[in-house]
Amino acid sequence: MTEKQKNQLGVLLVGSGSATPMQKITNDQLALRVDTSDEWIRTRTGISERKILGKDQSFVEMCSIAGLQAISMAGWKPETIELIILATSTPDDLFGSAAKVQSAIGAKNAVAFDLTAACSGFLFALVTGAQYLRNGSMKRILVIGADQLSSWVDWDDRKSCVLFGDGAGAVAVESSDNKDHLIGFKLRSDGSRGDCLTLGKTKEFQSIVQQNNFQIGNFDSIQMNGQEVYKFAVREVPAILDELLKMHHIDSSSLDWLLLHQANKRIIDAVATRFKIPKSKVLSNLAFYGNTSAATIPLMLDEAVRDKRIKSNDLIATSGFGAGLSWGAALIKWHGPI
Ligand code: UT7
Repeated sequence: MTEKQKNQLGVLLVGSGSATPMQKITNDQLALRVDTSDEWIRTRTGISERKILGKDQSFVEMCSIAGLQAISMAGWKPETIELIILATSTPDDLFGSAAKVQSAIGAKNAVAFDLTAACSGFLFALVTGAQYLRNGSMKRILVIGADQLSSWVDWDDRKSCVLFGDGAGAVAVESSDNKDHLIGFKLRSDGSRGDCLTLGKTKEFQSIVQQNNFQIGNFDSIQMNGQEVYKFAVREVPAILDELLKMHHIDSSSLDWLLLHQANKRIIDAVATRFKIPKSKVLSNLAFYGNTSAATIPLMLDEAVRDKRIKSNDLIATSGFGAGLSWGAALIKWHGPI
């Protein structure tokens, strides 16, 4: 622990869970709808297929499965959870979906709220939740990252529709008075560059009465300047990771895993190369899910925990980035059930 953290409690990741929809759409299937090919999508992005929520399952159900898995691994009873943060940009209800998940999993004593920071959402939520644990006001929290971008993609825009999928991932996090596995973090926002990736309200107005009008509550589909987002990611992710590693006097060679937001394999490879991290230490499941936004990091974490690649005390460098623009990085150690 650093000097500053000595009077604070530590944070431990003690459980993980994830859920993805049953419905699978391959690159070849997408090529039946838009002018694209499996070869183009695989070589430019690393994606082969994505899972999409259909009629048989809801967003809240997907989040609840991920959450229940995490608390089951942690060995918690749902009523012992004090806080649920659902990182999402695509709630079922603009007033929030976290409370619906709270009810579905029986976490009746938990306060629950949504947090929106697009693809950086999980990291922002983990760090936010950790503050309640550090200052001793809570002992057990559940952090979920989940998105259903399929509802907001223009399925006729080949430049964006090939990239995204739906999914949910969760971590159960608790405080500790003798260990701290959230070693450090850095979070950033830059709204001045936000126009290159938006899911914004349409600019349609209607009259209420006399000269007064209101903006209709409709949203456009996702609008993305892919090249700008790509350049942003390959510039900012290495910079923030570098800052974080230096701040904690950690050399990249001592990392056990690199777990980046799963948006494009070329971005992941570029960051790994920059830090001389061998392929064997780079976690990626992008090929099977595409970019699931706030879900990518916990979805990948859960997969690697369950197949026993990630072991207790492994040091993980993670970084999320996306709309906002927003980005961040954290150094964490996996703990596992206590
Ligand atoms: O969470 C953050 C979310 N977003 C991202 O991370 C996106 C980051 N950006 C990227 O991953 C890449 O920029 C893309 C994968 C979106 C695009 O790859 P690119 O290598 O930057 O391609 P490009 O936009 O420069 O397009 C190259 C060509 C263009 O054709 P012309 O103008 O050269 O004739 C595109 O029209 O590829 C064309 N193209 C496609 N062709 C087949 C664009 N999308 C497709 C497609 N299939 N799906």
